[in-house]
Amino acid sequence: MSQDEDWLIDDSHEAAEENTGPAWHVLIVDDEPDIHRVTQLALSGIDFLGRPLKLHSCYSGKEALEFLAHTTDIALILLDVVMESEDAGLKTARAIREQLGNRQVRIILRTGQPGVAPERQVIESYDINDYKAKTELTRDKLYTAVLGTLRSYNDIMLIDQQRQMLDANRRGLLKVIEASSVIFQQSSIEQLAQGVLEQLQSLLFFEQDALYVVVNGGVAALTDDDAVRVLYATGGYSELRGKTLPEADLVRFRPTIDEAIQTERSIYADDHFVGFFKTPHGPVNLFIIEGPVSLSHGDRDLIELFCSNVSIAYENLLMAREVEETQRTIIYQLSEVVEYRSQDTGQHIRRMAEYSYLIARAMGLDEEEANVIRTAAPLHDIGKVGIPDAVLLKPGPLNADERVIMNRHAEIGYTMLKGAKPRILRMAATIAQQHHEKWDGSGYPQGLSGEDIHIAGRITALADVYDALANKRCYKEAWPTEEVLEEIRRMRGSHLDPKVVDAFFGILHEVEAVRLLYRDAGAAH
Ligand code: C2E
Ligand code: SIN
Ligand code: SIN
Ligand code: FE
Repeated sequence: MSQDEDWLIDDSHEAAEENTGPAWHVLIVDDEPDIHRVTQLALSGIDFLGRPLKLHSCYSGKEALEFLAHTTDIALILLDVVMESEDAGLKTARAIREQLGNRQVRIILRTGQPGVAPERQVIESYDINDYKAKTELTRDKLYTAVLGTLRSYNDIMLIDQQRQMLDANRRGLLKVIEASSVIFQQSSIEQLAQGVLEQLQSLLFFEQDALYVVVNGGVAALTDDDAVRVLYATGGYSELRGKTLPEADLVRFRPTIDEAIQTERSIYADDHFVGFFKTPHGPVNLFIIEGPVSLSHGDRDLIELFCSNVSIAYENLLMAREVEETQRTIIYQLSEVVEYRSQDTGQHIRRMAEYSYLIARAMGLDEEEANVIRTAAPLHDIGKVGIPDAVLLKPGPLNADERVIMNRHAEIGYTMLKGAKPRILRMAATIAQQHHEKWDGSGYPQGLSGEDIHIAGRITALADVYDALANKRCYKEAWPTEEVLEEIRRMRGSHLDPKVVDAFFGILHEVEAVRLLYRDAGAAH
């Protein structure tokens, strides 16, 4: 193996190396010992960018390859062409690039017989960086060549380093973006808490137990009355989900929690980590990771970025909840106007909304969609505000003209709602318009049939008819349950979507429970 010949670098240089940073490693490859000696003399005492040179020697191409296979920080190779063979140096240069895959190291080829290998062709085809005749081995020429080459090596390494840092940064950012998009998809605070812990675990590669907690109150610090509620927890803490943080844990984490709340920052304590989410309008949200968490500054920045996205997601959820609550309230108040004017139905809209939800779930719609239908259904007859009392409240059957007037309520309701943007009101518009369409196309106002009728229209049609039959109206008495069900069965495939009817019969006992819960005052049983 090669002899580390740093005997030319005297003690003062060693000391300088310690003060100024690592040496530039330069490898001399030549089969003539004299060349080594001359080169060492020529380069002695040189430093570049405050860093000394350290010289290594190999005496054949083969030896150089072996040496380079185990040494990664050689900056420059002064490479002889003719050694164990006529073109040993050229072969070595190629092997360094292709076999060892080392593209950074700079190579200066040195030959005693210029002209044997034409300069330009060699530089291009062997990926070497300079070409010198051995006659140019004067101190000045060598010095210039070596420093110029080290400068380009330094540039290459800097660019490489920057690219690696950018890559790592980009990868980290991509992961945070991915994790954040998962967070933004959550539709409840509990789901959000679970998502946050799961995404953090994959971002930080930690396996420690963790908690996501919410502190109600706690503006400057925890007060003794503040309950710390656990929204989600993993590992040994799993059993605490949905509960209050026990006294022992609270005592342990409290100083860190207080510090996090006061400084509005995440706190890295010795044996745990408390992550802080800033939520201007809601309660304080924190996550606690058990055990020491050590992160680089770059990773801490990424975690802060993730946390601020979680805060936004949390605010969105709170706002969405508030907006939907407001919409629900307004929708109920609005629909009660109609209910009140119709004088007869009492709890009709409440039952109708619950039936619609139950059927929607039984039809396989997801919780979210079924909820939208439930919230929107009370507005199905909002168009009745446009129907005169003489028709709306007529105690007996309607004549043909009255019927035409009455049937307008579907279109009127749609016209009232169709300009609205909120999802719930758009759903309400569809339901108002389509709840009297019939599966066989004989309904109104558009005479739609089959699946051209929106699923919500088909579902609310059944809920509406079921409730109308089972209860008293100003124009009819309540029917006995058996006859109601008989009539619904008869409407399967004509008035009503067969699948909706089947779903309805599948959950009949739940429907019955709702009917009893929201019974009209004075109704039978
Ligand atoms: P509603 O009372 O809420 O009835 C809703 C739907 O339940 C009706 O839509 C109809 O499809 C079904 N339905 C109600 N009673 C019966 C029944 O005895 N037999 C059968 N097979 N189905 C029934 P429809 O027919 O489009 O009526 C819409 C609205 O028009 C009714 O809402 C009600 O407010 C009014 N209406 C309908 N018929 C009369 C009537 O004869 N007199 C009065 N005053 N109003 C009526
Ligand atoms: C009714 O007139 O009471 C309901 C009309 C219908 O059977 O569609
Ligand atoms: C009705 O819609 O009131 C009855 C029509 C049918 O039997 O399908
Ligand atoms: Fe209606």
